[in-house]
Amino acid sequence: MILMTVRSPVTLTRSTFTAMDLLAEALVTRLEPGDVVLLEGPVGMGKTYFVKAAARALGSEDGVTSPTYALAQVYQGRDVNILHVDAYRLSGMREYLDMGMEAYFEDGIVLVEWGDTIRGAHEDPLTLRIAQASTGSEARTVTLEWETGPWDDKITALLADLGEGPAP
Ligand SMILES: Nc1ncnc2c1ncn2[C@@H]1O[C@H](COP(=O)(O)OP(=O)(O)O)[C@@H](O)[C@H]1O
Ligand SMILES: [Mg+2]
Repeated sequence: MILMTVRSPVTLTRSTFTAMDLLAEALVTRLEPGDVVLLEGPVGMGKTYFVKAAARALGSEDGVTSPTYALAQVYQGRDVNILHVDAYRLSGMREYLDMGMEAYFEDGIVLVEWGDTIRGAHEDPLTLRIAQASTGSEARTVTLEWETGPWDDKITALLADLGEGPAP
């Protein structure tokens, strides 16, 4: 099978919670230790929801709550730890790096809500933006942006998993 290479950005529309769960699962199960996803989107768009679905897909049985007050939490998946950060109350990259979480940067999967706040702290993040697809509905658009080849391969595989064609 020839996989065509996709180019960032890619936008997917998910109409239901279940579809969002499947997207989270398809993405997170392709991630490797050291991968970082910066989640963006307004309050209530589903960033925490996405992290919950991702953690469940990796076999974490820990309940995922919004870590807006805890700032950071670690969930134990079957094979890999997930570091979940909510950067909303962080002043920036310096405060983030001072949290003492570096051990997870290489050995875990890092998912950061309000990731723009700490952009620059990680070399090669995937950005995932969630937006409302239409007013008052649970449909969401999810836009993925990245810069390097390794993400090309992962996103190509992700789109194939989801039965989405590569971007033209
Ligand atoms: N397709 C969807 N995906 C995720 N959340 C959704 C969706 N449709 C509706 N919601 C609702 O949107 C809210 C998202 O909340 P949350 O994940 O805490 O947002 P955020 O972390 O972005 O502030 C939840 O109340 C959830 O039930
Ligand atoms: Mg949140």
